Amino acid sequence: GIKRKEVNVLVIGLNNSGKTTVINHFKNDEEKVEKTEIVPTVGFSVEKFQNQNLAFTAFDMSGHGRYRDLWEHYYKDCHGIIFVVDSSDRLRLVVVKDELDLLLQHPDVSKRRIPILFFSNKMDCKEALSSVKIAAALGLDKIMDKPWHISASNALSGEGLQEGVEWLTQQIR
Ligand code: GTP
Ligand code: MG
Repeated sequence: GIKRKEVNVLVIGLNNSGKTTVINHFKNDEEKVEKTEIVPTVGFSVEKFQNQNLAFTAFDMSGHGRYRDLWEHYYKDCHGIIFVVDSSDRLRLVVVKDELDLLLQHPDVSKRRIPILFFSNKMDCKEALSSVKIAAALGLDKIMDKPWHISASNALSGEGLQEGVEWLTQQIR
């Protein structure tokens, strides 16, 4: 078959933001699970999918507080980061900001020009903030030394997901 470049992406964000649902969307039909069968991730899960000329290995991390310490062990070896935000969870946006700041300050991230794709997910919820508002709340305009992009998404319908991952693919290849 065609030789594809292998890349590692780290998928992070708070619990219940939709990370596993996002990654499930990109898997082959044979490997997809029913959306209703997706349960909170314990620890992390390694998932594979292809996009254009890239073979992705996604580290789908648990976003639960007790597992967030695991994230940093995967920063060093990842070529890109997908950061999923529940845009309808206004109460926890400050927690998202804290986690993002920790990420950006980490020595394995701060010195690297690693691309970060943000999904402002659950755009279908009526309380959802726009991606512009999420970007402002998280202070994304202050990220000067890394390429970043934010896509509004609905991981249940798939809306916005391909646009986002195409951006990431362009950055990595
Ligand atoms: P952890 O593994 O616990 O960190 O959570 P996660 O980020 O992997 O979230 P998960 O994919 O398990 O989704 C959490 C819940 O949100 C599930 O009930 C999903 O069906 C739902 N969900 C995910 N994406 C969307 C979305 O875009 N819109 C709506 N309305 N619900 C979504
Ligand atoms: Mg999960």
